[in-house]
Amino acid sequence: MFKENSMSQLLLQNRKIVLGITGGIAAYKSCELCRMLVKNGAQVAVVMTEAATKFVTPATFAALTHHEVMTGVFDDAEGIDHIAITKDADLYVIAPATANTIAKFAMGMADNAVTTSVLASACPVVIAPAMNTRMLLNPATKNNLKTLQDRGFYIIAPEEGELACGDTGMGRMRNVDDIFAYICSLLNENVAIPYDINSTTCLPKPQEPTALTQTKLLPKSHGAGLKIVITAGPTEEIIDPARVITNRSSGKMGYALAQMAATMGADVTLISGPTSLATPNNVKRIDVSTASQMLDAVKSQVGQAHIFIGCAAVADYRLIEPMSTKLKKEDHGEFLTLELVRNEDIVSYVGHLDEDRPYTVGFAAETNNFEENAKEKIVRKKLDLIVCNDVSGSEIGFGSNDNAATVYSPEGEVCTFGKMSKIKLADLLMELIISQFKEKLSHKKN
Ligand code: PMT
Repeated sequence: MFKENSMSQLLLQNRKIVLGITGGIAAYKSCELCRMLVKNGAQVAVVMTEAATKFVTPATFAALTHHEVMTGVFDDAEGIDHIAITKDADLYVIAPATANTIAKFAMGMADNAVTTSVLASACPVVIAPAMNTRMLLNPATKNNLKTLQDRGFYIIAPEEGELACGDTGMGRMRNVDDIFAYICSLLNENVAIPYDINSTTCLPKPQEPTALTQTKLLPKSHGAGLKIVITAGPTEEIIDPARVITNRSSGKMGYALAQMAATMGADVTLISGPTSLATPNNVKRIDVSTASQMLDAVKSQVGQAHIFIGCAAVADYRLIEPMSTKLKKEDHGEFLTLELVRNEDIVSYVGHLDEDRPYTVGFAAETNNFEENAKEKIVRKKLDLIVCNDVSGSEIGFGSNDNAATVYSPEGEVCTFGKMSKIKLADLLMELIISQFKEKLSHKKN
């Protein structure tokens, strides 16, 4: 069963979905589909044929969506009409779609609210057929489905089971969890399981998305009004005027996050260790060298921040006493012992703030025991999210242009992002982080 989770919330948040209901007994299942879409953040507009209203009342869908339902071509409640209702829609889902409605779609007819609005829509259309087996396998229906498929309609294969007429066979509307999974997959990947019109057996289950693959899931004004502070790059701890202790970070991941956050309209401050990278557009940059300078810069910025992201590879130790003159090998022989002291943990400092604590996100650079280490860090540093990446190889992680990551919240895994460019990953991460921050904020308010 498809689990409603933060991935489905991310995919459906602010998506406009038109749900068309036509006259079949399966209409009652669409109430649950509607509830799931709304619960996961979609804005759902419902359109019903007159026949559909004989099975479920428009009042049910109005209660579920908090919007009036369109049942006629000349409805103008709330300014909705058959053209306006599909404007800006991301998807039009017709569930159930009867043989009669499918035939009308194939003919391009416009004789009721559903057929008219489908004809007027510019978004992808998904239909979930529901009918008796012989109707489904009738060459007329098969031709109609083929016509729609050729025209780019997405068809969710019906399943076998008990039918309204008492028969058992193919034709029952796909169960709601599968339809929900299909919608999420479609929004994520823009591809779907093709429907084999000649098939008389149930087709495979739609796959639950396990990783987000599409960028630009949310409007690019998503970050407007937010102040976001990001640390990036390595720190350098002075040994002597010529030598430092540092980490292998190039700064690319943190700079990509800053760039994408600024693109989303956020007010971004990037606190950067030494890198060779250019400052992204519309980003304020504060340059630091050592971990303690980075901590001071974070302290000066974090009070006004909504979100703090610790992407820097901060040196864990510094010399107790850096040398003021260049260390001479001749004075030390084969072995050199340096006395180090632990640097304060910056992200943990922010995570443990009592007042003005921003939504706090850390990174975990790991080479093994990924989940275990990430979960330990999220608790110890009191984080809202941790982005765990593998730094054991050269293809992702330190220095490279690509990365892959799994994100955890204190409740467990949120989602996994496969290997992709750091820019694309930053886009997806910023959308996720901002969404999760806004969700936490809305829970606090309620
Ligand atoms: O810069 P790139 O070449 O693009 O590489 C990106 C990256 C691999 C450096 C980045 O994606 C990443 O993983 N950054 C965190 C590196 C790190 O220090 O991880 P850690 O597991 O040691 O630390 C965990 C968290 O604590 C991090 O958020 C880190 O910023 C923070 N920390 C650690 C020590 C310290 N003294 N203060 C901190 O804030």
